[in-house]
Amino acid sequence: MRNANYISAISRMRKEKNAIILAHYYQTADIQDIADFVGDSLALAQKAAYNKADIILFAGVKFMAETAKIICPEKKILLPDIDAGCSLADSCTADELKKFIAVNPGRTVVAYINSTTEIKAMADIICTSANAVHVIESLPENGKILFVPDRNLGSYIREKTGRDIVVWEGACHVHENFSAEGILRLKKENPEAEILVHPECESAVRQLADYIGSTAGMLEYTAGNKNKAYIVATEPGIIHQMKLRRADAKYLAAPRKDFPFAANDCNFMKTITIEKIYNCLKYEEPVIRLDPVLINSARTAVERMLDISKIFAGSR
Ligand code: 13P
Ligand code: SF4
Repeated sequence: MRNANYISAISRMRKEKNAIILAHYYQTADIQDIADFVGDSLALAQKAAYNKADIILFAGVKFMAETAKIICPEKKILLPDIDAGCSLADSCTADELKKFIAVNPGRTVVAYINSTTEIKAMADIICTSANAVHVIESLPENGKILFVPDRNLGSYIREKTGRDIVVWEGACHVHENFSAEGILRLKKENPEAEILVHPECESAVRQLADYIGSTAGMLEYTAGNKNKAYIVATEPGIIHQMKLRRADAKYLAAPRKDFPFAANDCNFMKTITIEKIYNCLKYEEPVIRLDPVLINSARTAVERMLDISKIFAGSR
């Protein structure tokens, strides 16, 4: 079947089944274009929490679909490829975190949403890249914090807040692969370009930034500013949305360390295809199944983040 036929079948099925498709900005352009809603990790969690669909199909990775299941366990949550994981989330297991807490006792555990459900169940509060600073600032000023699993976002929020934070040594293979030298070279060739950096990037790359923020933050930045060129240091799927909002600007994907001319795609995000979405909606599989006890343990920390995000809405 051709892509166009899959797309019309998907549109018909989602109406019949009262289903919505939520897509992350790192999905391919064709998937972003058919989604009911495209967003960053925070917006997707919020959208899952506040909607009336019976089925949510997640065009994203497993931790995102599992977060939706934690927030609304009564809904059917579908993930078109159950192997769409996340190297960052997988870098910290529950047993490893137990040991890390044992050697760093008495700290509030803050888990990045890019973590497994088992880790969320052990956390006091969750954050995303869009609200991490607000979440940390919502905690008592003299309290000590343990942050998992991203070392780069962890060091970024420590710099921004000045809080006592110990950080798990995990990293995202996409965001750690941007080359500071390559970005400087690109800036030399395009001196008018502003450098936009995701906080999952290493400190050497963050130091070059004109703007640091989540994918949604970057998008707001480019849409609301008149600069003519941007160097984008995050997964290049976001550039599709940047072009939709402002076609007049030039968007240059930041170069990788290993293969400077190859796209720095997240291979987990890019396992999702239109054909897999069609099959998933048709057969309602793969479906996210989580132990209800685990869901209950993880929900408090996720809801605490959603409540804080309501307070800080619009300030990212
Ligand atoms: P945001 O969606 O919070 O910008 O995070 C990026 C990311 O790595 C998602 O996997
Ligand atoms: Fe995980 Fe990195 Fe891919 Fe995001 S971009 S899903 S953090 S591996």
